[in-house]
Amino acid sequence: MSMPALVRIVEVGPRDGLQNEKTTIATADKIALIDRLSGTGLRSIEATSFVSPKWVPQLADAAEVYSGIHKRPGVSYPVLVPNEQGYGRARAVGVEEIAVFTAASEAFNQRNINATIDESLARFTPVMERAKADGVKVRGYVSTVLGCPYQGEVPLTDVVRVAKALHAMGCYEVSLGDTIGVGTPGKARAMLKAVASEVPMSSLAVHFHDTYGQALSNILACLEEGVAVIDSAVSGTGGCPYAKGASGNVASEDVVYMLHGLGIGTGIDLDGLAETGRWLAALLGRETGSKAGKALLST
Ligand code: HMG
Ligand code: MG
Repeated sequence: MSMPALVRIVEVGPRDGLQNEKTTIATADKIALIDRLSGTGLRSIEATSFVSPKWVPQLADAAEVYSGIHKRPGVSYPVLVPNEQGYGRARAVGVEEIAVFTAASEAFNQRNINATIDESLARFTPVMERAKADGVKVRGYVSTVLGCPYQGEVPLTDVVRVAKALHAMGCYEVSLGDTIGVGTPGKARAMLKAVASEVPMSSLAVHFHDTYGQALSNILACLEEGVAVIDSAVSGTGGCPYAKGASGNVASEDVVYMLHGLGIGTGIDLDGLAETGRWLAALLGRETGSKAGKALLST
């Protein structure tokens, strides 16, 4: 398999990036972040999450955020939806793409969504039916594909089973998440190959957190297998409140810098992305988590 000529970045900063922030971020700032991101050429921006506000208080303003953003033509703004209640809230403000999420680890699922894997898939069935009837696109996430903070090793067969189930129920794309960032390139490649033997590579995405500094290497290994969709978060923000040890997502600026260096197109203005990362870091009162972002702004 050769590397793709073009890659679509799914920017998850406004959702995965912000969901773990302890200080409440103003709704207007979340909207400003998304509008800045959509000005950089990104085509997929995960805007927010219609989960229970008791579980993720930071994103309790999901409806206001979604309603407030400038919907740029050609840009998708998927949102996380855990159940029918979330679907109803999302549709009430006109959401056109959602993402359902489960995990390959039973222990993580219990803590994150209070359900077993099979219960979560059963919860998605009516959501998928309504989405199909409404013409809403659905993305799927499988978390803990390379390790679980509670169960440790996650068998590849479980990752494949869950990814296959999401694809079979109608997810147009399945994102494979190394939620706690424990993967290394050989394992990432083997995991992707195993899933791609059951789900077409063109329907797969990879989602790395950078806890051990392996995210870019993992992405390179997956690009070599032919994956062409990568999740990342501007400024390297992120983490899951229900995944002990989860650190930031791989920074979008670093991924785009690497892709452009490899001659792979993204359609993204890297300088504009770095500027947005700097703006977000200032808002959060810290340095940007993107090395490329920092270097670009200091030259
Ligand atoms: P539960 O407590 O079992 O749910 O939570 P429930 O159905 O019993 O409802 C409890 C209460 O929540 C009720 O309210 C419901 O109305 C309300 P009460 O009667 O107590 O006042 N509720 C809702 N409210 C608003 N919107 C909803 C909703 N659903 C129920 N959609 C549930 C189950 C799934 C809701 C909960 O566990 C939850 O929201 N979990 C979300 C956790 C989360 O967002 N984690 C982070 C995202 S996953 C991630 O980051 C990984 C990823 O990035 C990939 C990777 O890195 O691997 C995607
Ligand atoms: Mg994540």
